[in-house]
Amino acid sequence: MRRERTATDATGRVKEQIPLALGGASYLDSDTEDWDYATANTKTHTHCYHVYPAMMIPQVARRLIRLYGRSKGLLLDPFCGSGTSLVEARLAGMNAVGVDLNPFAVLLARVKTTDYDLETAVAEAKRLRNKVEELIKGDFAAPIPRFFNIDYWFKPEIQSELALLRYAITQFVSPALQDFFLVAFAATVRDCSNTRRGEYKLYRIPEAQLGQHHPQVLPTFWERVGRNLRGLSEFLADYKPNTSVNVFEGDTRFGLPLGDESFDLIVTSPPYGDSQTTVAYGQFSRLVLQWLGYNDEIAKSVDKRALGGQRRAVDVTFHSPTLEDTVEQIEQHNLRRAEQVVQFYRDFAECFPEISRVAKSQSVGCFVVGNRTVKGVRIPTDQILIEIAANFGWKHSTTYHRRIPNKRMPLRNSPTNRPGELCDTMTEEHIVILHKE
Ligand SMILES: C[S@@+](CC[C@H](N)C(=O)[O-])C[C@H]1O[C@@H](n2cnc3c(N)ncnc32)[C@H](O)[C@@H]1O
Repeated sequence: MRRERTATDATGRVKEQIPLALGGASYLDSDTEDWDYATANTKTHTHCYHVYPAMMIPQVARRLIRLYGRSKGLLLDPFCGSGTSLVEARLAGMNAVGVDLNPFAVLLARVKTTDYDLETAVAEAKRLRNKVEELIKGDFAAPIPRFFNIDYWFKPEIQSELALLRYAITQFVSPALQDFFLVAFAATVRDCSNTRRGEYKLYRIPEAQLGQHHPQVLPTFWERVGRNLRGLSEFLADYKPNTSVNVFEGDTRFGLPLGDESFDLIVTSPPYGDSQTTVAYGQFSRLVLQWLGYNDEIAKSVDKRALGGQRRAVDVTFHSPTLEDTVEQIEQHNLRRAEQVVQFYRDFAECFPEISRVAKSQSVGCFVVGNRTVKGVRIPTDQILIEIAANFGWKHSTTYHRRIPNKRMPLRNSPTNRPGELCDTMTEEHIVILHKE
C-alpha cells in the first residue's frame, strides 16, 4: 500500500504536498513516498569524499530544493558542515552560499562543490604517485609536525608516512588541486590514527588492542583518491556548469557575507545542541586540522565556539513558551544542564536577525532538526524553532517527519550518566518549513 508523505502544519493537520518547483534530472530517481530513504545510496557524487558528523542525507536536500528551490536562485546554508545542500544546489541548477565556523567543514564543502577538471586531477594523481615512490626509494624523511599529543594518537611509523604524503601533496600537486588531495589525506589521517573506528569523539583504541592495529597509510590514501575521482566524475556528469558556490568560514551569529534580501532558499541542518553533550564537530576535526597545519588553539576551540559552546551574554530577545516549559522541567533534575540548554537556544536565536536580514521576502527556510533528550526530558526543537523564528518574521507552513535509518549520529545516551542506562535520544528528525513573511 502506498504510504503518504507525512507533512503536518502548525496545528498538526496533514497538509497537501506542495508541487515541485525545479525539474527532474537523471540522478533524481531515488524518491520514495516517505522521507526516510532507508535504502538510498547516500554516497553518490562528491558526497562520497569524506564523512562528517550528522551529515544531512543528499536525498533530503535534493527533494527540498526540488520542492522549494528556483532555477538560478540563491540557496543559503548557514551551518553548511561538509556541504551536502551546497552540492545538491549545483546539481539542481542553483547558486549557493555556505557558512560554517569549523575550518575543516569549510575545506570539505569547498572541495565537494568544486568542478575540478577530471583529466587534470587524474594526471596529478599519477604524478603524485610517482613522486611518492621516488621519495620512498630515496629514504626521504619529511618533517613531522609537532602538535600536542601526536604520539598518543599516531604510531611513529604512521607519523613518518603521513608526513611524507603531506609533503608530497604540498610540493608536487598544483595549487589548484592541492585541496582535492588534502581531503583524501584527511580521510587517511582519520583511518590511520589510533582513534576507535565508528566514533566521532576522540576515543583511543584500548592499549591492549593497539598491538594488532596496523593501518596502511599509502594504500588507504590511494583507495580514497580513486573513490573521490569516481565521485568527481559523477558530479561533473550531473552538475549545472553555470552555477557557483561560495563557502565562508564564519559564525552565523555575528554576520553573514551577503547583502540584504539576497537568498531565496535555506536548506540547513543546525547543530542539535551544544557540542559537549551532542555532536562534537571540533573533536572530530581536531587531528586532521593539526595535520593540515592549523595551530592547536584553532583546532581545539571549534566546539567551544559553536552554538551553546560557552556561557555568554546574548544580545537578542525572543519568546518561546515551549522552550520555557521544557527548561522548567529540566531544571527540576539539574540546574546546570538547564542553563546549557537555554544557552544553546539563545545562541541559535541570535542567528535569526542575520538570517532574516539576508532573506528575500517570501523566501523559504528548510531546517532539519532532531528532538534530543536531556535528563529524561524530550526537547521539542521542531516546535521551539518555529516559535523562535516567528519572533524574526518567519511563518511555519509544514513539517515533514523522517526516521533516521542511515544518519551517523548518537542515537542513544545515558540519561543518568550511569553505564548501562540508555534511552533513545533521536530516531526521528523533523524537516521544518518556514516562509519569510
Ligand atoms: C549538523 S552539522 C551540519 C551538517 C551538514 N548539513 C552536512 O551535511 O555535512 C552543523 C554544523 O554547524 C556548525 N556550527 C555550529 N555553530 C555554528 C555557528 N555559530 N556558525 C556557523 N556554523 C556553526 C558546526 O560546525 C557543524 O558543521
